Amino acid sequence: MSTVVLIGTQWGDEGKGKITDFLAREADLVVRYQGGNNAGHTVVIDGQEFRLHLIPSGIFYPDKICLIGNGVVIDPAVLVRELDMLAEQGISTGNLRISPRAHVIMPYHRRLDEAEEDRRGDSRIGTTRRGIGPAYMDKAARSGIRVVDLLDPEEFAARLRDNIAEKNKVLSQIYGAPGFDFEEVLSEYLRLAERIRPYVADTSLVVNEAVKAGRNVLFEGAQGTLLDLDHGTYPYVTSSHPTAGAACLGAGIGPTRIDRVVGVAKAYVTRVGGGPFPSELHGELGDLLRQRGREFGTTTGRPRRCGWFDAVVVRYAARINGLDYLALTKLDILSGLPEVRICRGYRYRGEELTEFPASLKVLAECEPVYETLPGWDEDISGVREYGALPANARRYVERIVELTGVPVALIGVGTGRHQTIVLHRVF
Ligand code: IMP
Repeated sequence: MSTVVLIGTQWGDEGKGKITDFLAREADLVVRYQGGNNAGHTVVIDGQEFRLHLIPSGIFYPDKICLIGNGVVIDPAVLVRELDMLAEQGISTGNLRISPRAHVIMPYHRRLDEAEEDRRGDSRIGTTRRGIGPAYMDKAARSGIRVVDLLDPEEFAARLRDNIAEKNKVLSQIYGAPGFDFEEVLSEYLRLAERIRPYVADTSLVVNEAVKAGRNVLFEGAQGTLLDLDHGTYPYVTSSHPTAGAACLGAGIGPTRIDRVVGVAKAYVTRVGGGPFPSELHGELGDLLRQRGREFGTTTGRPRRCGWFDAVVVRYAARINGLDYLALTKLDILSGLPEVRICRGYRYRGEELTEFPASLKVLAECEPVYETLPGWDEDISGVREYGALPANARRYVERIVELTGVPVALIGVGTGRHQTIVLHRVF
């Protein structure tokens, strides 16, 4: 019985939804601990595609408890939409629990996110414009509204009045944007609060009791290591911590209770939003990966930038997260390429860097140093045993293991839950 943290090792969109869905079979609890509806998980079950932004993908298993931890920022309107969508599909949400300590994304957060992105112009972060950054800003500034406050009409009204007065000033005086009407927001959110109330529970207590009882717990990270506020490509990052350490803070569990950390890495790399990306492919090959891998944002529909697998990035993620295993996704997308490349290091002013630099200026000047391996032609989407992969595909995986120093436990060869090769047990 164990606890596993699953995180993204790149810039998000590594296919965590699929791996979470696969591992959730063996988990009793699935816990989200950071981010908000900037995330998007696509899960394909029996050919039907589901998109979730907030609710853990464990919800598709009727017997799993799904938690939204205190570290998540919750847009109640989005949450209620997801609850309704799941109900319409006949999927029960009775096992969902939401932390009263989670912060709430308010309409002014969304508008501030938009306004700030527009103000930045060409140097915009490329956020999802879902209000994530402004919600975490208020949390750190100690002016945020938590779920527990939302459920208390008196407390909520007082905090909302205060916030709206301040945000309206900022919106009009700094951004020249329209503000919000207190009464309107109040009545809408009090209505949403009643939809959420039945799900609210002390999620830290739930998870700690589950651990004590020897249950399997899966902590599901959103985004990826390079979008981490501390460890990512700042300022082109999100405002939370998509790294493994955050599972403790964001779920209310001690570090001594975490058994294993698994990093999800796509067999190539994608990035949405701005910022340097050394192994980015411009032109035909990038387009090919985008089309084949359906690399368009789940949340915003934006085309993702595509590039070769970057071992510097994943080695860095292995260090920051203390990775035990990798889950390598979308290996099938590389089938049919005459050769495949892995970025082994960066050439910076004549020197080869093997560690990920802190300075974005340095990163922007880095040229990828590639190793080129022979490709494979076979369709691998039906392969379920590692030994049945074409020799060149195995060679590619083995080189990734050597360069990152992390063993591969799972390999994804298609979008479906069962299109997964298991090399090591994770739970
Ligand atoms: P924000 O999280 O909306 O503030 O966006 C900040 C940065 O994180 C932008 O580059 C976004 O494109 C990126 N981002 C946020 N969530 C995701 C995700 O789930 N996948 C990939 N990129 C994301």
